[in-house]
Amino acid sequence: MIVAIDGPAAAGKGTLARRIALALGFVHLDTGALYRAVGLRVLRNGMDPSDAAAAHRAALALNPADLSDPALREERTATAASVVSAHSAVRAALLDFQRNFAENPPGGVPGAVIEGRDIGTVVCPNADIKLFIDADLSIRARRRHEELRSNGISVELAEVRAEMAARDDRDRNRADSPLRPAPDAHLLDTTDLDIDGVFAAAMKAIGGVAK
Ligand code: DC
Repeated sequence: MIVAIDGPAAAGKGTLARRIALALGFVHLDTGALYRAVGLRVLRNGMDPSDAAAAHRAALALNPADLSDPALREERTATAASVVSAHSAVRAALLDFQRNFAENPPGGVPGAVIEGRDIGTVVCPNADIKLFIDADLSIRARRRHEELRSNGISVELAEVRAEMAARDDRDRNRADSPLRPAPDAHLLDTTDLDIDGVFAAAMKAIGGVAK
């Protein structure tokens, strides 16, 4: 079984995906981490994320250790990820890994929860269940700001909000695999919901399929 979760930054995809995976005994893949790892490699190589050839080389050079680098969570990495992810060659380089993970989950478990921006539309268009998680920009910016501060990173809320708005805009308006709900996705607005509420709504949608 494949559960696809898409949505913009800080809508609550990651927490929800991990919780669903735990509840169902599935594996979880955060595909944003793949794009972040490509963005971070480009930055560390001293290259510009808008350079498609440099970003493609970085995507081909990815290795599993890249995915546990703490710098993946920095805001400069998020911005670089959003820029490199607009290059079709980068997306193509990461596609097979994502599909294979979803279709043949590691460890022989019965399913995968895979989250990102284009999972329901491009990576797994045949997913059993598709969730599109959204929330107002001001709420998402506040959540991310609190998360950064609790990790000891001091940054202004206005700066987080502006960076997030620019990233959303880039992710929604790129030509290849833009962020948008699949026509058959369940839409979940988390603006006024806590994680328990989001989880309950998601499990209700999944329950309808799993029966
Ligand atoms: O989910 P995240 O914030 O870690 O994602 C970082 C960036 O990676 C996001 O701004 C766009 C890109 N991304 C993508 O293009 N496609 C995905 N499936 C996941 C992330």
